[in-house]
Amino acid sequence: MLIRSRNRHSIGENDVTPESVYLSRRTFLGGVAGIGLAASLPRAALAGPDYDDVTKAKGPEWFEAHLSDTRWNAVTAEEKITPFDDATHYNNFYEFGSNKSDPARYAGQLNTVPWSVTIDGEVGKPGQYALENLITPSRFEERIYRLRCVEAWSMVIPWLGIPLADVIKRAEPTGKAKYVRFETLEHPKQMPGQASRFGLIEWPYREGLRMDEAMHPLAFLAVGMYGRVLPNQNGAPLRLVVPWKYGFKSIKSIVRISLVESQPETSWHMLAPDEYGFYANVNPDVDHPRWSQATERRLPNSLFNPNVIDTQPFNGYAEDVAGLYQGMDLRKFY
Ligand code: MTE
Repeated sequence: MLIRSRNRHSIGENDVTPESVYLSRRTFLGGVAGIGLAASLPRAALAGPDYDDVTKAKGPEWFEAHLSDTRWNAVTAEEKITPFDDATHYNNFYEFGSNKSDPARYAGQLNTVPWSVTIDGEVGKPGQYALENLITPSRFEERIYRLRCVEAWSMVIPWLGIPLADVIKRAEPTGKAKYVRFETLEHPKQMPGQASRFGLIEWPYREGLRMDEAMHPLAFLAVGMYGRVLPNQNGAPLRLVVPWKYGFKSIKSIVRISLVESQPETSWHMLAPDEYGFYANVNPDVDHPRWSQATERRLPNSLFNPNVIDTQPFNGYAEDVAGLYQGMDLRKFY
């Protein structure tokens, strides 16, 4: 984010699509429209994605029980899945420090069981919900999404969770609900980055979406990844995933979801409004003041294989989401 990174402008080669993770966009649209998705999957996709080597650390009992009813490969990206080791050792989670390796080193201190989430604001059913009660009324889905950070690196991650819209609908939004505001846990004892005198962020970390963005079928609440419970450094036990926006919108370790009438304050926007907008849609045509957004470094990469690829509008999800922003000047609403 505010930390400068260099050496990302050399040209690399795109990953080749393995057949086992390829699914057409049409299949996704069929799925979200409620058509029997598994039936429309190509056989290769049903064989499952290529991360069988991942150690399946056990989650809480409710998570493991619910896992057997997962709709695998509900949405896929066309590219190769990022190795688990990279996705869990190159992280942004400032509550645990500002180095990419800090979250893996320190997030083990965070106690994620039991966990509850407060739902409040413009809803008919406010309350404090145990995580399992919030999640288990819906079936788990696997969503293989591209994740594009504003720092111009990217990954492809198989998330496990449920559509955000399910949770919002169950809370019964009132007519005044125009935005959704999210908040991360504040606990300086378990999150050493929050206790640091050198921290930039005003805690708790906050994020927000417009109501129609939050209700979009691609907006997702993850409780797992790579077929297992979410590791702490990736935002356990509950994180947002909004694949068409820069990664900072995908807030981790959520404890509060509020439906509100006006656009909420969000952490990075509060810190540097001219650098980080509220919308933060991935846009190769609008550069960050300090670095280009035209390309991205796809992890894993190295000095010899920089693996730089072109960034796609809306991170490749334009066909699904561009309509949400019709008539808006995306240079102004960055
Ligand atoms: N959520 C919280 N609470 N704190 C953070 O520092 N970092 C964001 C986002 N969610 C962050 C957060 C940023 S900048 C990115 S790019 C993604 O998490 C990174 O997710 P990952 O570490 O799982 O790849």
